[in-house]
Amino acid sequence: MKILHIDSSIQAEASASRLLSAAIVAQLKTHAPAAAVTYRDLAADPLPHLTLARFGSAEGEAVLEEFLSADVVVIGVPMYNFGIPSQLKAWFDHILIAGRTFRYTETGPEGLAGDKRVIVAASRGGYYGKASPGEANEHAESHLRAMLGFAGITAPEIVIAEGVAIGPEHRQQALDAALAWIDDVAPIAATA
Ligand SMILES: Cc1cc2nc3c(=O)[nH]c(=O)nc-3n(C[C@H](O)[C@H](O)[C@H](O)COP(=O)(O)O)c2cc1C
Repeated sequence: MKILHIDSSIQAEASASRLLSAAIVAQLKTHAPAAAVTYRDLAADPLPHLTLARFGSAEGEAVLEEFLSADVVVIGVPMYNFGIPSQLKAWFDHILIAGRTFRYTETGPEGLAGDKRVIVAASRGGYYGKASPGEANEHAESHLRAMLGFAGITAPEIVIAEGVAIGPEHRQQALDAALAWIDDVAPIAATA
């Protein structure tokens, strides 16, 4: 059983998404202590932008293989300027590869990585939920769902701590709610 743990916040200890993604991995490990965890910190060790030369390169292939070989992928995602961090977009550019994680067919695109379980820990300073004034500017969760769905991962499990920049109480409430959600994350064996 392989877990790929990815973080993308530029913050360290103060990061909400890092705290939550670590809690998810810890929760998974309580049920599956033997699971192997590969950690990729996209802020500390950013991937370069995709170039033509990187298609099929050894480094590009290693990033893709790391994703393909994982049974469970846990991703920490802060909202930056209404979307995902560019570091995380660069990672998606490395893994959304025709013929490997999706393919085009006569009836439309088909995802090839749908056997994976993906759990996302997202954080955002404001509020972007359904019917909130910020809803129209939500381009992080929706983009993630689109990219994962394209690879066949149509039901990612997503927890979002939102309003964390409003004030310390809002932040704590959001983290407590997210951590309670994580307490109930199903064990790996039940789904993978
Ligand atoms: C560069 C930058 C851009 C941000 N843009 C937004 C934004 O568009 N909307 C929002 O609600 N919060 C925004 N925030 C706040 C973060 O989403 C929030 O602090 C979140 O907790 C960051 O994740 P982290 O705690 O894991 O670092 C931004 C923060 C930074 C540093």
